[in-house]
Amino acid sequence: MEQYAIKGGTPLVGEVEIGGAKNAALPILAAAVMTDETVHIDNIPDVRDINVLLDAMKSIGVMVKRDSRHSVTINGANINSLVVDDENIRKIRASYYLIGALLGKYKNAEVTLPGGCDIGCRGIDQHIKGFKALGAEVNLDHGMIRTHCEKLTGNHIYMDLVSVGATINVMMSASMAEGTTIIENSAKEPHVVDVANFLNSMGASIKGAGTDVIRIKGVSKFHGTDYTIIPDQIEAGTFMFGAAITHGDVTVKNVIPKHLESISAKLLEIGCEVMEEDDCVRVVASKKLKHTHVKTLPYPGFPTDMQPQITVALGLAEGTSIVTESIFENRFKYVEELIRMGASIKVESSTAIIDGTKGYTGADISAPDLRAGAALVLAAISAEGFSTIDEIKYIQRGYEDFHIKLKKLGADIELVESEKDISKFKIKVV
Ligand code: UD1
Repeated sequence: MEQYAIKGGTPLVGEVEIGGAKNAALPILAAAVMTDETVHIDNIPDVRDINVLLDAMKSIGVMVKRDSRHSVTINGANINSLVVDDENIRKIRASYYLIGALLGKYKNAEVTLPGGCDIGCRGIDQHIKGFKALGAEVNLDHGMIRTHCEKLTGNHIYMDLVSVGATINVMMSASMAEGTTIIENSAKEPHVVDVANFLNSMGASIKGAGTDVIRIKGVSKFHGTDYTIIPDQIEAGTFMFGAAITHGDVTVKNVIPKHLESISAKLLEIGCEVMEEDDCVRVVASKKLKHTHVKTLPYPGFPTDMQPQITVALGLAEGTSIVTESIFENRFKYVEELIRMGASIKVESSTAIIDGTKGYTGADISAPDLRAGAALVLAAISAEGFSTIDEIKYIQRGYEDFHIKLKKLGADIELVESEKDISKFKIKVV
């Protein structure tokens, strides 16, 4: 089984190129099947979730051609099945974007329900509410969500909670409904805007994405397009916090600094220097980190996907910090692993109370989910001594070449597959 072996104690220093946003690319790839014309998409990250989605699309007859590692050509003219059900697609949350896309185009879709409850129970009631409001019948049985209708009709939909997935899914279907749809209390994340821009580039008429009211005038047909995905805000934020955690100096390149404002603000608060340029941000952590309080919130608040990374940083800060998770109920599972590395953290329901310690110590740990896995890798890079991290398949779901990028920044990290590899690594880095 693949693991990371890490010898800690080296600050991350240098420049790192940020890839395309996974959470924008997933719905955009799904939406690309909504036209019979050819679509070219650039800046897709080469990560596991994307590849699973592309395979599922191929399985229903979509032509998918990988032009290069980061670009793909898609043609959905010859789709031969509206039933998406394979073992792998069940494991990724974003499988549900195929429902919105196929329902919009064909008024019919059957997709295996997203599984995985690694960070809390993740409902889909708001997706269903939206599809029903557009006139679709929706049934859940045998692990599948089945939805169909004669036609979709625009409607006024008020989301009971702010959901990235539900906003995007309903926006996709509604863009091919008859008449106008208004989605209120919609998510404002940069990837929601990116999906709206992509759909508009195929002929949709969507206004207001990025605000909490989205207006969609339905059209009957989409056309082909060439589109480039926005940079990944969370990958960038992870490396920015990597600088803080390891007392390093990291420049994230090819980013949109505006999307990183809540992350930059917290880094400044805890005593880092943050320097922004047009498409890069440099983070320097030369002083002892300071404590702070943070609560995860929908955009433009501090992202839940950055919660483990800031917790790892605050575990090294002077004084007591409080981190409150308000989006997912079970997102502190990694804290047990961090405590094994010397952290002093007490979790009470959705709040972590963190007493800063002098430093972490290496340990054999396990990645419980994608973002927590990345945060634990950063903890291990800052720690004294050796660590191994297993279950890295979670990290590979969302970070392209994570260990290679970290290595370029000076980390002593290796992808290993056996005890023999680990021994070899230890001899090399002593
Ligand atoms: C997306 C991101 C994920 C990120 C999250 C919040 C993808 C593939 N994943 O997930 O990385 O952490 O946004 O920024 O883009 N909820 C319901 N009913 C619903 C929908 C959501 O109760 O119908 C709840 C969820 O359980 C969760 C909260 O709303 O507690 C937010 O979920 P949502 O914004 O939908 O997250 P995802 O789209 O699943």
